[in-house]
Amino acid sequence: MGKLDGKVALVTGAGGGLGRAHALLLAQEGAAVVVNDLGGARDGTGGSASMADAVVAEIKAAGGQAAADYGSVSDPAAARGMIQTAVETFGKLDICINNAGILRDKSFKNMTDEMWDVVVDVHLRGTYLVAKAAWDQMIAQGNGGRIINTSSTSGLIGNFGQANYGAAKAGIAGLTRVLALEGRKYGITVNTLAPAAWSRLTEDIMPEGMEARLAPEKVSPAVVWLCTDDAQNVSGRQFCAGSNRISLLSWQVDVIADKDATDEPWTVEEVGEKMLESIDSWPKLLKPMEV
Ligand code: NAI
Repeated sequence: MGKLDGKVALVTGAGGGLGRAHALLLAQEGAAVVVNDLGGARDGTGGSASMADAVVAEIKAAGGQAAADYGSVSDPAAARGMIQTAVETFGKLDICINNAGILRDKSFKNMTDEMWDVVVDVHLRGTYLVAKAAWDQMIAQGNGGRIINTSSTSGLIGNFGQANYGAAKAGIAGLTRVLALEGRKYGITVNTLAPAAWSRLTEDIMPEGMEARLAPEKVSPAVVWLCTDDAQNVSGRQFCAGSNRISLLSWQVDVIADKDATDEPWTVEEVGEKMLESIDSWPKLLKPMEV
């Protein structure tokens, strides 16, 4: 008995890296999986059927159920087509993992409009388009659902040279929090995952010799658990997962200056005093692996 027997899942960008690992584990737990992948290069150029087909073959060889989809998440018709593939092949859609992604890193000084647009288009707009198509289908079915959107500490905390990517990934986290609130009445949970894994996207930025420690398979169990019935009350959360560590990234609210709202506004001088007297006790912006 798998934890996801009878469920139908879509994983975008599942032809390699993290998406492939998520798709294989979802199938191992009994879900029928639509394996989407554009099959292009790391920077989003090109496309082919081979990546999605290879993962579908792997799932089938292991005794699972899978279907391939080759559409781009940033194309509205293709995004709807992915959900259609799930419905036409397996009868419904219960789980949507928005994972597809590309990189065009540059310091902000050297960033071009084209580099900004293409990264925001695939990550933020692509997540929106697929989530929206999945949302409409899940509401029509009336049985709730699971959406997991892939963010990054680049967006949630910050990373040099990734202004386009970080902005898109922070946008995805914001979208997730709103959908979590709106999904409550439909039984749809929506969570954010910020992974850390060795893949073609990160192989030149991860420390050498970390390939096994940072295997994508060490991220997927957290994703798959969030798709189970046991996770029905977990929504609107930001999880980081990598190297067998799962962390919850939560907000800490520190009141720095406070007085009665009917009083006169603070002066700039007073604000400065409050800021400088507390600044050493502000929480540090640490990434989960630095804790
Ligand atoms: P990857 O490059 O191995 O996987 C991304 C997949 O998305 C590729 O197979 C690619 O063909 C597919 N893809 C790209 N554009 C597409 C489009 N328009 N439509 C459909 N498929 C498309 O990289 P990785 O590392 O597995 O990344 C997966 C996700 O995790 C991405 O969203 C990435 O930003 C995110 N992430 C990864 C981290 C890591 O440490 N590997 C860290 C933080 C976030």
